[in-house]
Amino acid sequence: MSSTVSKAVRIERFGGPEEMQLVDVSVGEPGPGEVRIRHKAVGLNFIDVYQRTGLYPLPLPLNLGMEASGVIEAVGEGVTHLKVGDRAAYASQPPGSYCELRVMPARCVCKLPDGISFETGAARMLKGMTVQYLLRRTLPQGGLQAGDFVLFHAAAGGVGLIACQWARALGLQLIGTAGSDEKCALAKAHGAAHVINYAKEDFVARVKEITGGKGVKVVYDSVGADTFMKSLDCLRPFGLIANFGNASGKVPPFDINVLAGKGSLYASRPTLFTHLSTREATQEIADDLFAMVSSGKVKIQIDQSFPLARGADAHRELQARKTTGCTILTL
Ligand SMILES: NC(=O)c1ccc[n+]([C@@H]2O[C@H](COP(=O)([O-])OP(=O)(O)OC[C@H]3O[C@@H](n4cnc5c(N)ncnc54)[C@H](OP(=O)(O)O)[C@@H]3O)[C@@H](O)[C@H]2O)c1
Repeated sequence: MSSTVSKAVRIERFGGPEEMQLVDVSVGEPGPGEVRIRHKAVGLNFIDVYQRTGLYPLPLPLNLGMEASGVIEAVGEGVTHLKVGDRAAYASQPPGSYCELRVMPARCVCKLPDGISFETGAARMLKGMTVQYLLRRTLPQGGLQAGDFVLFHAAAGGVGLIACQWARALGLQLIGTAGSDEKCALAKAHGAAHVINYAKEDFVARVKEITGGKGVKVVYDSVGADTFMKSLDCLRPFGLIANFGNASGKVPPFDINVLAGKGSLYASRPTLFTHLSTREATQEIADDLFAMVSSGKVKIQIDQSFPLARGADAHRELQARKTTGCTILTL
């Protein structure tokens, strides 16, 4: 079997960005159901921080990264939807996208439409498909209709700016929170109907004010520990909280009776990877995203870019809340 060498970012133990080492790894031929992809750009996501710190513990040593775009270099037996030379992009388990070249399961790798650049492809697969399953599939009782209010935390981040635009395209009134006035302005410019600087404003009171005291039908909360309980107070009766991240830490255990007291609420803890369990499901979600991007309704804002070798600096910026929109690693 022929093999070639690729640079990859690896951790030997959980910890800070200083644990991220650029190493040489050997890459072989794809087996059945696999492809070998040569990356052109790599997407950075907050889940990479959780995996690096061990908040989401995985076996070590661990090659980091869940999202990238590139060109298919070799195709294993049984793979029919991709061929050598195809432009492609993915958000996928197992981790290991912070590299030049890798062999991986083909199931979650999608063809990248010609009109979409490698950079945009790398930046938006994981974040954009997340917004798709949140706004289209993680819904309160009776669904969401045009004009409905939704609360979306961290609205100026990678996932957040895509959500602002997608919600506007659906006619939803997205109330976006963010940690500075500049970030709030960015969320507004991307389609948030209302913005709240939750670093200095009481977001529960502001949501009540904006919704005429009624509350929102759904809160999409990726901040976690700092916001979860207050988010419940923003919901109308029978409302849904979808906690889909832990940027400020995991939601502490809570008494489920709280949901009754606050109005027969629903609580969900979704993850993209349940939605990507089959190739068909992955393609369906990706196609919806590609259509939104190709139509111009959702533009992917890449605000930061770092060479692969400076992946640790990218992590520092993301964790310090210094980034907006998407961040990519370049090769
Ligand atoms: N479950 C899923 O399927 C899924 C999939 C993709 C992403 N996610 C989650 O969605 C969230 C957004 O992901 P992303 O990659 O686009 O990241 P991001 O939103 O660009 O960055 C995270 C943002 O969270 C906010 N934040 C609040 N408290 C924080 C704290 N203590 N430390 C750091 N940041 C804090 C910051 O914005 P402000 O300064 O404006 O507060 C920060 O910019 C993450 O929590 C991620 O895990 C979940």
